[in-house]
Amino acid sequence: MTQHDRLLIIDFGSQVTQLIARRLRELNVYCEIHPYQNVTDAFLDEFSPKAVIFSGGPDSVVREGSPRPPKTVYDLGVPILGICYGQQVMMHDLGGKVEAGESHTAEFGRAFVSPTPTIIDLLHGWFKAEREQVWMSHGDHVSEIAPGFEVYGTSPGAPFAVTADLNRNFFAVQFHPEVHHTPNGKFLYENFVRMAGFTGDWTMGAYREEAIRLIREKVGDKKVICGLSGGVDSSVAAVLIHEAIGDQLTCVFVDHGLLRQNEADEVVKMFRDHYNIPLIHADESELFLGELEGQSDPETKRKIIGRLFIDVFQKYANQIEGAEFLAQGTLYPDVIESVSFSGGPSVTIKSHHNVGGLPEKMGLKLVEPLRELFKDEVRALGRELGLPDSFIGRHPFPGPGLAIRCPGEITREKLEILRKADAVYIDQIRKHGLYDEIWQAFVAILPVRTVGVMGDGRTYDFACALRAVNSVDGMTADYYPFSHDFLGETATRIINEVKGINRVTYDITSKPPGTIEWE
Ligand code: XMP
Repeated sequence: MTQHDRLLIIDFGSQVTQLIARRLRELNVYCEIHPYQNVTDAFLDEFSPKAVIFSGGPDSVVREGSPRPPKTVYDLGVPILGICYGQQVMMHDLGGKVEAGESHTAEFGRAFVSPTPTIIDLLHGWFKAEREQVWMSHGDHVSEIAPGFEVYGTSPGAPFAVTADLNRNFFAVQFHPEVHHTPNGKFLYENFVRMAGFTGDWTMGAYREEAIRLIREKVGDKKVICGLSGGVDSSVAAVLIHEAIGDQLTCVFVDHGLLRQNEADEVVKMFRDHYNIPLIHADESELFLGELEGQSDPETKRKIIGRLFIDVFQKYANQIEGAEFLAQGTLYPDVIESVSFSGGPSVTIKSHHNVGGLPEKMGLKLVEPLRELFKDEVRALGRELGLPDSFIGRHPFPGPGLAIRCPGEITREKLEILRKADAVYIDQIRKHGLYDEIWQAFVAILPVRTVGVMGDGRTYDFACALRAVNSVDGMTADYYPFSHDFLGETATRIINEVKGINRVTYDITSKPPGTIEWE
């Protein structure tokens, strides 16, 4: 457990609770989200927060049995900020009144908050104009504030938009300061944590030192194995663990023959030559491509790859005598998902890639040094550890690799053509300075041949599709609006430079209804 100043976010089930954590981490404040059911008196005692935030939530405090924090939270003597449902909970618990929503009192969407004559510290620097845009999303509303509270901001639909009990440092707002549609909401969080006495001690430098200490403590003189995919998360985890325990770590990089051009060499070179990390390069392409032969159903392909990946990893891991730990690049969003308010399981598309199920099967304990980090924090840690920027900024690449970019039957010939076309496409994107602007870009080779004419001759070659999308988390995505000139130039280069392709198309499907990958 980290020793930083800690802020506790009690989650009442809002869709945007994670954003509160993001805003706080941006302020170098260490915080954790915990579902309200888990926040008991004993938990509070152990967690010992320096401040507490109540999230929003979909329930109604007037409904019997609706979510509540333990009463002792109000006796901790630390500042509390309630947001939306969190405001209503606070008012209700402390003697105010909340009324159930009726259509004329509900408020969803953009609203404007105006200050009262007294600008309290929480709102310091917030009002740039006479009123500030905020995002409201509530059915119920506070109809009477609790004793000790005063109003410090109002909106047409929410007379108690900002309320506070300054003696106890309890603050409660009806809107959501964490969302993008409350453009200056960060001021509220900044002021809140300053008032609570946070020093902003959550930096990547500090995290690195502490993570190293904790890994050493946990692992002792035992051995750790780490499945390396070449992606950012497992790479950062491996480099960090290596810094902590040196050659007690061995990485296993499974090359399934479905990687991009030069990918295996790059990964192996970086880990072996640059970091001197013991690495088993498991070239199992014959096995994977052999078992995939003749298979064209997307799910069958995925299942074969998932199964073989685990078998192969296990085979190599067994060669490492005395290994007691398995390292994984699990991130904080995965942790939150698996213990979230709604108890939703994490997204299954990742499971076989993350060698799910291996620890139990092999009797290994887990080392997950990135469990407390968001993706951009992992990138920052990677930089702190000296991983090259070009590596850290790489687009996501799926565990099943090129198999899901090769609809229909996978052949070595098609994979070779696909690798070349993909390399030209990515080169084009880099040359035009677009790589970092795009979330993910790749080529898919299509299972059709088409007729073309090159020089004086007829061609009968494969068609391919270019894909480029922007996305925040891969769950939804928009196709990237390349210029026609860029598309034309890229198509010409691919057709000229890649033997076997004579037609290039651009995929303009968003997700939904499409998915990012073709399979
Ligand atoms: P889809 O195609 O589902 O992809 O829109 C969303 C994101 O997830 C990646 N992806 C995977 N990643 N194992 C992975 O590690 C998988 O099986 C897998 N399938 C899709 C995809 O590249 C995109 O970034």
